[in-house]
Amino acid sequence: MLERTYTRHGSSLIVRLMSFVCLFFESYVAPCVELKTAKRDHVQQNQQTRFPRATRPLPLKLVTVGKDRGTAMESVALEYVKKIQRYCAFEEVQLRPNPKNSSDVSNQVSSEGERVMRSISTKDWVVLLDERGKEMTSEKFADLIADAGETGASAVVFCIGGPFGHGPQVRERANVSVKLSTMVLNHQVAFLVLLEQIYRAWTILRGEKYHH
Ligand SMILES: *[C@@H]1O[C@H](CO)[C@@H](O)[C@H](O)[C@H]1NC(C)=O
Ligand SMILES: *[C@@H]1O[C@H](CO)[C@@H](O)[C@H](O)[C@H]1NC(C)=O
Repeated sequence: MLERTYTRHGSSLIVRLMSFVCLFFESYVAPCVELKTAKRDHVQQNQQTRFPRATRPLPLKLVTVGKDRGTAMESVALEYVKKIQRYCAFEEVQLRPNPKNSSDVSNQVSSEGERVMRSISTKDWVVLLDERGKEMTSEKFADLIADAGETGASAVVFCIGGPFGHGPQVRERANVSVKLSTMVLNHQVAFLVLLEQIYRAWTILRGEKYHH
């Protein structure tokens, strides 16, 4: 009798204890663990956890073909240019499309190409931004900039073509073709994306936290 009471009492105590533990786990421990994992994933996505890479910072030059960007676009671009200039020399060469050539697209593209070529020297390492180029992650793009420093080149030249793309001479000259996005980007937007990725590349190479 005593034993039965004890057993019944004991088992219900165990059940109650178990359910308490379960409740405690469900309502406190599990969410905590989830939160931690979520936090860690978040950190891995947003912060570069890579070690810094010693890099010879080559001067960067960006050659664009196109009409005037508005003042709003220019001021956003300038923010990034200033950030990039903390890491390396940076200049932009903006070429205007020649209106005399606008009646014939292939003529226009090839005359633009000729002018782009005048901004490229023989010792430059030329990166073509192109829809048909290589897709890459920001980390790979950072490596590309670092690798360029090891080629003996004197500068890296990024080329963003006009609305009708790159001239054949420029395609021929390119050392690598990079695709900035799988979506089609307006060349002004591509310009901003490129600046942002160059800045991001430097934070990756230096092992720094990315500042938004
Ligand atoms: C376009 O430009 C090129 C070189 O700048 C020139 O040789 C050509 O005559 C021009 N074409 C037209 C249609 O004006
Ligand atoms: C870049 O391309 C040019 C022209 O094709 C070539 O002469 C040069 O050797 C290339 N540079 C490197 C580092 O491959």
